Amino acid sequence: MHSGTAQPPIALPRAAGALATDLSPPPGLPGEHFAAALLFFVAGAAALVLVAPDVAAGAFYLPRVAATVHLFTLGWIMLSIFGALCQFLPVAIGRPLRWPGLAHVSFGLQAAGAAAFAAALVTGERPLLYIGAAALSGAFVLFAANLGAALVAVKTRSLTWWALAGATVFLVVTPAYGVVLATNLHDGALGAARFEVVAAHAHVAIVGVVMLVVVGVAHRLLPMFLLSHGASERPARVAVALLFAGATALALPFGGGARHVVGGVLAAGGVVAFLAQAALFFRKRVRRQLDPGMRLAAAGVAGLALAVALAPFALTRGLAAPHLLSTYFVVLLGALSMFVAGHYYKIVPFLVWYHRFGPLVGKRKVPRVADLYSEKVATANGALLVTGWAGFALATAAAAPGLARVAALVLTAGAVLEAFVIARVARRRPA
Ligand code: HEM
Repeated sequence: MHSGTAQPPIALPRAAGALATDLSPPPGLPGEHFAAALLFFVAGAAALVLVAPDVAAGAFYLPRVAATVHLFTLGWIMLSIFGALCQFLPVAIGRPLRWPGLAHVSFGLQAAGAAAFAAALVTGERPLLYIGAAALSGAFVLFAANLGAALVAVKTRSLTWWALAGATVFLVVTPAYGVVLATNLHDGALGAARFEVVAAHAHVAIVGVVMLVVVGVAHRLLPMFLLSHGASERPARVAVALLFAGATALALPFGGGARHVVGGVLAAGGVVAFLAQAALFFRKRVRRQLDPGMRLAAAGVAGLALAVALAPFALTRGLAAPHLLSTYFVVLLGALSMFVAGHYYKIVPFLVWYHRFGPLVGKRKVPRVADLYSEKVATANGALLVTGWAGFALATAAAAPGLARVAALVLTAGAVLEAFVIARVARRRPA
């Protein structure tokens, strides 16, 4: 990795200052996270082909469906988030993770834990379920400690700082819910409260961890990638406050139905505020033409808007309308997946360029970041992913198992293509 003083003075992509500094980790650390996350993306999509009829039947609570859900949430989304934070933290808050070595440990625990947990849900192997849940809890708590220790040392508290501080809290709360639910799968101690707890768990994780990180990180990355200037930052501030308050209300172990209503309204307000902020960034962009990565991210943002519109209906009707509930989760998790998938097309080519081609600027002709992959293939990739996801959501809403399977196959083709393209980019070196 080259240092700040050795950085090429010209032709550096604009993202350079937003993604890498002298304090950035060796590329292997985010790299191992991204590689494993892409494998989970492919595995999750393939598993979705198998469970497509279950989801289309509204049976989202079947253990094999929960296994598939967690290949996406724990494997694809969370490993991507951890990897992005490893890379992005020094630029976002001016400090790297406190203990880089520990980030390798939390990575190993997360990847192995997610695989074991999903396998145990499918096979019903009780010890493996507990081993997986324990490994995942270890990963979440260690990453939270690593992130929290970096955050406390920072004096200037930006919006991104507050968003990540909030996420740190819910990184600890999320596995607590997960372990209770995993135990309940075998002892049934939660009884009729099971589904209420599942809803609280899923939303605490999505609102308190995923969305807070998305808001904090997107606040720096979206303006950079979109070349967007002069947008007000107020909506993002409102988003962070409401998401944190909403996740807190949802996580409370007391308060009955009222906390769900209050938490749900606050969280939905937080998502809407984020949507307003994202819309401002997109509207104020200088470069009108969106590249394939940003188009995919925009599809994710649009999906979040649909999810927030469905949420009041899906969550108040609950198990009385299982298709609606399943459709809501498909839209929501798919939206987050598209947002993440779009960012791979921005972050990985940039990192490869920065480490391998950047040092050669001024010495010889180097490709642009966008030259590291084919725009046509990336566009086709985005089309496969969005068509597969939208088709799967429609098939779930219409209770059409055959269509759901075809759509899941299309999504899988998109996930395989993305893994293939990103792996090729990662191997690019100067000739
Ligand atoms: C820390 C580790 C985690 C563990 C041990 C865990 C455990 C579980 C368990 C056992 C269930 C099934 C409950 C049941 O059907 O009775 C569940 C459901 C769910 N979890 Fe997690 N979870 C974890 C993290 C996450 C994260 C990070 C997310 C989202 C980003 C998430 C999203 C969901 C969703 C959407 C469901 C409902 C889907 C379904 O049951 O098919 N979980 N979780």
